[in-house]
Amino acid sequence: MRLFQIFLVFALLVTITLTVLDTPQNPAGETSAVSSAKPTNELWQAPNESLLLTEANADEIKYGRELIQNTALYLGPNGTVKQISNGMNCQNCHLDAGTKAWGNNYAAVYSTYPKFRERSGALETIPKRVNDCFERSLNGQSLDTNSKEMLAIVAYIKWLGVGLNKGDKPAGSGIVEVPFLNRPASPEKGQLVYKAKCESCHQANGEGLLNADKNTYAFPPLWGEHSYNSGAGLYRLSRFAGYVKANMPLGASYNNPILSDEEAWDVAAFVNTQKRPSKDLSKDWPNIAGKPIDHPFGPFSDGFSEEQHKYGPFEPIKKKRNELKNKKTT
Ligand code: HEC
Ligand code: HEC
Repeated sequence: MRLFQIFLVFALLVTITLTVLDTPQNPAGETSAVSSAKPTNELWQAPNESLLLTEANADEIKYGRELIQNTALYLGPNGTVKQISNGMNCQNCHLDAGTKAWGNNYAAVYSTYPKFRERSGALETIPKRVNDCFERSLNGQSLDTNSKEMLAIVAYIKWLGVGLNKGDKPAGSGIVEVPFLNRPASPEKGQLVYKAKCESCHQANGEGLLNADKNTYAFPPLWGEHSYNSGAGLYRLSRFAGYVKANMPLGASYNNPILSDEEAWDVAAFVNTQKRPSKDLSKDWPNIAGKPIDHPFGPFSDGFSEEQHKYGPFEPIKKKRNELKNKKTT
C-alpha cells in the first residue's frame, strides 16, 4: 500500500515535470515586451522587471514607480516630500503601477506625447499631463517640472514604453470603451449596483476606508472631499464606466469582467452625481466643438443639452457630430 502511494506521487511528479518542459516558455524573461512576433490580439504587457535593473537610471525609474504606487506617503496631506495632493495614489486609478491591460495603464504615454489636447487647446508634454492628474484626479497642486519627483515619474513612464515606436498604441492601453446604452445612464439603478457590489469596500458614504495609519487608503474614496474633482477624467461617464468595467469590483479584468455594460454605465452615473470638490474649468476646452461627447458641462456646439451630455444617450450626439463634420468637409 505504502509503496503504491510513493509510486503514485512519483508518477505525478514526472507528469508535471514533462508538462512544464513541454510548455513553450514565455519569452518575456529574456526579451521583454519588445518582441514583435506577438499575435495582434494579445494585450500589452509591461517590460520585464529584469530589464529595469539594466538601465543606467534604474534607481530613478524605481523611485518614479514608488511615487505612482504610494503617492500619499510622499506627496499626500502628510507627505514626507511635499503636501500637494488628496491622499489618493496614482495607482488607485492606474492599476498595478500603470501596467495592467485596460487598467488605465501608461503603455502609450511615451509613444504618443507630446500631443495636442483639446482640453487645454495646446501641445501637452508628459509633465503637463501628469500635473493635470495632480490638479484634478488628486485634487491638488502641480509638481515643479524639474523636481526630482517629476523627473522620476517621467523616467518610469518612459521606461514602460520601451520597445514601442512613436505613435504606437498597443492593444489594451488606457481605458476600454464600453458600448453606448440606448437610454440615459440611471443614477437610481446605479445606486443598487453600488450597494450590492461596491459599498463593502468604498463604504456607504463613498469616502473610502483609511488604513490603521490614518494616512493612506485601504479603499480609496469615490466621492466626498478627498476624492477626484469635477475636472478629472473619471468625472466623465465613459471614463468611469470603462475603468470599472475592466477593473471593478477589485479582481475584475478585461477578460473576466464582473459588471455588465449597463451596470458599469449606471454605477458611473450614480457615483458622479454625488458631492465632490469642484474645479474652475473656465480655461478648459477653448474650442467648444472639441469637447468629448460625455463632457458634462456646456456650452456645446452640437445643440444637445448638458443633461444628455452627462448621462446619454450618446449615440445621437455622436451621429449629429459626424454629420456636422461631414458637412464641413464637403
Ligand atoms: C482618480 C483617478 C486618477 C488618479 C488618482 C490619477 N489619474 Fe491619471 N488619469 C486618470 C484618467 C481617468 C485619465 C484619462 C484616461 C483616458 O482618457 O483614457 C488619466 C490620464 C493620465 C495620463 C495620460 C494617459 C494617456 O494615455 O494619455 C497620465 C500620464 C496620468 N494620468 C498620470 C497620472 C499620475 C502620475 C498620477 C498620480 C500623480 C495620476 N495620473 C493619478 C485618472 C487618474
Ligand atoms: C473588494 C474591494 C472593492 C470593491 C468591492 C470595489 N472596489 Fe473599487 N477599488 C478598490 C481598491 C483597493 C481600489 C484601489 C486599487 C489600487 O490602488 O490598486 C479601488 C479603486 C477604485 C476606483 C479608482 C479610485 C477612486 O477611488 O476613484 C474606482 C472609480 C472604483 N474603485 C470604483 C468601484 C466601483 C464602482 C465598484 C463597484 C462596482 C468597486 N469599485 C468595487 C477596492 C474595491
